[in-house]
Amino acid sequence: MFQDITTLLLDPKAFKDTIDLFVERYRDQNISVVAGVEARGFIFGPPIALAIGAKFVPMRKPKKLPGPVISEEYSLEYGTDKIEMHVGVVQAGERALIIDDLIATGGTLSAAIRLLERVEVQVVECACVIELPELKGRERLGDKALFVLVNGS
Ligand code: PRP
Repeated sequence: MFQDITTLLLDPKAFKDTIDLFVERYRDQNISVVAGVEARGFIFGPPIALAIGAKFVPMRKPKKLPGPVISEEYSLEYGTDKIEMHVGVVQAGERALIIDDLIATGGTLSAAIRLLERVEVQVVECACVIELPELKGRERLGDKALFVLVNGS
């Protein structure tokens, strides 16, 4: 079964309610970085970042960012993939939220956590609209907290 968030985007009230739920949760947590994972983390991340007064940091697929990057690899069912972040866009000690549309195996989010922790940013929480719990992605995040709105099983 394929889980897709694009129908949510067609309903302005439902989309706004979704953003507001995240904003409510993260507004008073001294978060200065919202890191969004390509591609659909770029839909949910920026409105949350604007509402809580944080910067938005895109975590992109390889060879997309124009400047110097650091990258983290993660394993897929067959092979590996990578995400990248620009060097110098976050500072040690900053507090970050990582946002994506969906967690499946947790590989993507675990790589995003490693990217930020390598530069000594504190990951406060990961947040997704949908979790596919049968794939046990949450376990791959170790002790990092994960907040989701919808159980996609
Ligand atoms: C999907 C989804 C998450 C990731 C979750 O992205 O949007 O980013 O997979 O899977 P995981 O928990 O098993 O890592 P996809 O890889 O399809 O890339 P796209 O968003 O660029 O289409």
